[in-house]
Amino acid sequence: MSVPNPLIATQVVQWQAVHGRNHLPWQQTRDPYRVWLSEIMLQQTQVTTVLGYYERFLQAFPDVASLAAAPEDDVMALWSGLGYYSRARNLHKCAKAVMAEHGGAFPRSAEVLATLPGIGRSTAAAIASFCFGERAAILDANVKRVLTRVLAFGEDLSSSRNEKVLWAMAEDLLPTQDLQHSMPRYTQGLMDLGATICLPRNPSCLVCPLQADCRAAQRGNPQGYPVKTRKTKRGSQAWWLLVLRDVGGNLCLQRRPSSGGDTGIWAGLFSPPVYAGAEALNTQLATLGVQVQARQDWPAQLHVLTHRDLFLHPVVVDVAGVQPALDVQDAGWQWQSPAAWPQLGLPAPVRKLLQDL
Ligand code: ADE
Ligand code: SF4
Repeated sequence: MSVPNPLIATQVVQWQAVHGRNHLPWQQTRDPYRVWLSEIMLQQTQVTTVLGYYERFLQAFPDVASLAAAPEDDVMALWSGLGYYSRARNLHKCAKAVMAEHGGAFPRSAEVLATLPGIGRSTAAAIASFCFGERAAILDANVKRVLTRVLAFGEDLSSSRNEKVLWAMAEDLLPTQDLQHSMPRYTQGLMDLGATICLPRNPSCLVCPLQADCRAAQRGNPQGYPVKTRKTKRGSQAWWLLVLRDVGGNLCLQRRPSSGGDTGIWAGLFSPPVYAGAEALNTQLATLGVQVQARQDWPAQLHVLTHRDLFLHPVVVDVAGVQPALDVQDAGWQWQSPAAWPQLGLPAPVRKLLQDL
């Protein structure tokens, strides 16, 4: 590959100032705590969804010290509904590490930031460039799309060797001047181009600031990039949820383990007990020693995750009495009154299920 065009960085920076997103709350600060929080929330969640969560989170935990000191349940409750809960668990771990290992101040270089829990190379670079003007390259999925097109980089990105080459090219393309000003704009500009112009299908090349420099646009095949042959094949899974309800409308919920072997999607959150099949659920129900008054098997609800489709099968069982004792070994089962539900860390599909009861 030839030497990158120095105009590319300039174009991105100038375009961002005029056409990019410049009024998002996390852009009004260089506080690494706030920028870090926004980057973690934005990893798998859209801006419009993040906005509300971001404000509520900062009200509860205005700085890294308060987050580090919080009980994990409170952190999970504030994350509840955002999904990908390992982000929240790592967020909490990271805050504790900043307090314990960095004297309560975020490290100021991408290299050291990337050693913290939940902060990968691209997120570390985003924080360092936004907050400290460091000349560090980001390369998330959107930016990979923009850069492979601009460079007509046709190598297969499912090979880590090729990915490394692209990282090196991303670094070569970075601005070289006035970094305190140009790096935050450049980083945000690449994100904005990926989110609004250089879309996966039908990119808006005609209004793109890189059109004149973009090799894929010149060749007329932006949609040929990026190349990724190893398709992660989507799996699917079914979970049966035992929704036990007493005559007072209380539900029996289980706090799913957050450490040890279980790093499942809902670890640390509350949900009805989960079973791999209807038979396992029935067997459990038969041994609980409760008097079943009614049972409804609800239709399956699809919950789409990154690598699989999860089909949830709620089974709503009305039992006699108020908060009857349950013959179950697991101490994690607790009756929870409807008044307590809003304060619990609940996965979004479970929250919806409770609303539909
Ligand atoms: N996605 C990841 N980081 C972002 C940011 N800073 N602004 C908008 N969307 C983003
Ligand atoms: Fe993407 Fe088209 Fe811009 Fe190239 S010209 S970066 S393909 S939007």
